Amino acid sequence: MSGPVLIGDAMTGGYGAADILHDCTIAVEKGQIAVIVGPNGAGKSTAMKAVFGMLNIREGQVRLNGRDITKLTPQARVAQGMAFVPQTSNIFPSLTVEENLEMGAFLRRDDFRTTMEQVFDLFPILRDKRRQAAGELSGGQRQQVAVGRALMTQPSVLMLDEPTAGVSPIVMDELFDRIIEVARTGISILMVEQNARQALEIADKGYVLVQGRNRFTDTGQALLADPEVRRSFLGG
Ligand SMILES: Nc1ncnc2c1ncn2[C@@H]1O[C@H](COP(=O)(O)OP(=O)(O)O)[C@@H](O)[C@H]1O
Ligand SMILES: [Mg+2]
Repeated sequence: MSGPVLIGDAMTGGYGAADILHDCTIAVEKGQIAVIVGPNGAGKSTAMKAVFGMLNIREGQVRLNGRDITKLTPQARVAQGMAFVPQTSNIFPSLTVEENLEMGAFLRRDDFRTTMEQVFDLFPILRDKRRQAAGELSGGQRQQVAVGRALMTQPSVLMLDEPTAGVSPIVMDELFDRIIEVARTGISILMVEQNARQALEIADKGYVLVQGRNRFTDTGQALLADPEVRRSFLGG
């Protein structure tokens, strides 16, 4: 089927009286990486929440494989193949790594051990630390737990809100490599990133959001080459 796997189409809405998103459109194609960048408070996390159903939009639509899912709860969206790693509180710190992954599989009735092995193959350190409390791990390792937990539902679309927040450049590169690896398996990635330059390098599609609106939309490479995008959003 053609067209995006997932699209938040012309979304307008917010948390209360005032709208945060204004006619905002975000989409990702199958097996591709779409990246949302923009200043603090631009509405990046809000756009992710809207796409995942954690925020009701007043106008616009969310479609998954062409189907209108605007009214579905987040849990129903998970059942339809979406997974979301929020910006904060994305692991259970007191549970072990393995228990975190098991929690990720909560909707599954089948044997999820194969998927857990795939997560361990992707993030081998988690196999070594599977009996440790997730809260004891390093920041980068905790992000691996969060991504791994999201993968336990075998999603077709993986949404990540700032997966590299607070990690070193080396750990960030490593995590981006793993995200590319996930995309190569056919899983679509929709990701918010503060490390805009590095994220756009791996992005098939990039969105620059400003004050809840689409400011620039293009391929990652084109955005990286755009003088205005560079000057205003990438530090020159
Ligand atoms: N739960 C909330 N209730 C009310 N306003 C919020 C809430 N979360 C975020 N906002 C506001 O929405 C705007 C966009 O925030 P956010 O989507 O978190 O931006 P970003 O992720 O781009 O930094 C900000 O003005 C923020 O203060
Ligand atoms: Mg945010």
